[in-house]
Amino acid sequence: MAGPKRGSGSTFVVIANRLPVDRVTAPDGAISWRTSPGGLVTALEPVMRRQGGAWIGWHGAPDEKVKPFKHDGLQLVPVQLSSQEVEEYYEGFSNATLWPLYHDVVAPPEFHREWYDSYVTVNKRFAERAAEIAAEGAVVWVQDYQLQLVPQMLRELRPDLRIGFFLHIPFPPTELFQQLPWRREMLEGLLGADLVGFQLPGAASNFVRLVRQRVGHKTHRDAVYLPDGRTVIAKAFPISIDAAGFEALARTPSVLARAAEIRESLGNPRKVLLGIDRLDYTKGLRQRMRAFGELVADGTVHPDDVVFVQVATPSRERVDQYRILRDDIDRLVGRINGDIGRIGQQPLTYLHASYPREEMAALYRAADVMVVTPLRDGMNLVAKEYVATRYDNDGALVLSEFAGAAAELRQAYRVNPYDINGMKQAMVDAMKASPRESSRRMKALRRTVMDNDIDAWASAFLEELTEPRGPHDKHPRPSVVS
Ligand code: G6P
Repeated sequence: MAGPKRGSGSTFVVIANRLPVDRVTAPDGAISWRTSPGGLVTALEPVMRRQGGAWIGWHGAPDEKVKPFKHDGLQLVPVQLSSQEVEEYYEGFSNATLWPLYHDVVAPPEFHREWYDSYVTVNKRFAERAAEIAAEGAVVWVQDYQLQLVPQMLRELRPDLRIGFFLHIPFPPTELFQQLPWRREMLEGLLGADLVGFQLPGAASNFVRLVRQRVGHKTHRDAVYLPDGRTVIAKAFPISIDAAGFEALARTPSVLARAAEIRESLGNPRKVLLGIDRLDYTKGLRQRMRAFGELVADGTVHPDDVVFVQVATPSRERVDQYRILRDDIDRLVGRINGDIGRIGQQPLTYLHASYPREEMAALYRAADVMVVTPLRDGMNLVAKEYVATRYDNDGALVLSEFAGAAAELRQAYRVNPYDINGMKQAMVDAMKASPRESSRRMKALRRTVMDNDIDAWASAFLEELTEPRGPHDKHPRPSVVS
């Protein structure tokens, strides 16, 4: 693509594996785009509009070239991936090497040299696209584990840019990270950024320690000093949601009516428990289903009184571990309902589908207990969304201590998802809590979520990224913060 000349390019550029839009094909074959409901686009949209910003990402269809286009005032710049690159860079290195490695190896990571080669090629493509469209001195924000080499590649092409990187998933303990044959390349890739953001302070300090040990740079607290005089800062910026937006949605009459309808269709049980996750082996679905099945089987809860609704959103369906998981969960749910269900009564309602935000909000409103029990999770925004919808301070959250959100959501019923008895107990405690106790906990949870929303997150990151950096900094940065 012949990008605009530097002077006329974008002063704010976001680079993410995916564009923030989904393609919709009408029955007559006409193609249009719909903004996808992610929090990131909600947070960055105002900044992007103000700055004439651009978003670089994959449009989701292998082998297809899509020209840059405007959508809802956003400049979108599609990056093309061949089917082989989808297999090797996306399904392979990103989601069968890095994803399991960074999530405590809860599934075994696979290391293949061809996958890594493809990761390098695709990262380079993203970096080149950004180098073409960024204005002189622009601010570029690179997102997530699929693009860890981009900061360094981009800096080589465009040393004038201010580059930030944010990792949405956990950064692994140093012992696990060392398994990666390309560990040094990953660290050096990230060091191309001026600011590297993580969900938790522990992740930032793991990164700094690895840089000291593996790359040999001097470090002090959250700063890495590079031989060329640059300083890279590594810090935690826990991500959040559009909390007020979710609350407003949950208050709409149509959502409330739908919530009542959901409870009605479940037979108006005394308690509704809910899980909503991408169908991913990091989410602890096997353990959660087993814990609930046992509660019914051993008579602690009665299926007349209690139902569990589990929504599992289809995800990465061509990756082996995800196929295995889907079959396992299908079998497990079938066995639990087969063993403990009766005619017209299924204690577990399992839905393998993705729903729009309105339906999610209605489900949250219909649930007395939200069960979020990942084995490892960078943050977990479902936990925060549930809290945002509980504007009358009722409901309870059961939350894994291995989700990033546990660091902030301290008044949840905390569980170790590997401890089935502990999970059973927490679900029972959450169901049996007095209204006073529930309200005390929910009030505190809501204060945390409503005060620290996605705007606060984006502003904190961008403020730190755009701060003047001493006499070497020749470029006055555009103000990207409102
Ligand atoms: C996680 C990752 C995101 C990713 C999302 C959906 O939240 O941090 O980078 O976009 O999962 O996964 P997918 O592979 O469908 O993009």
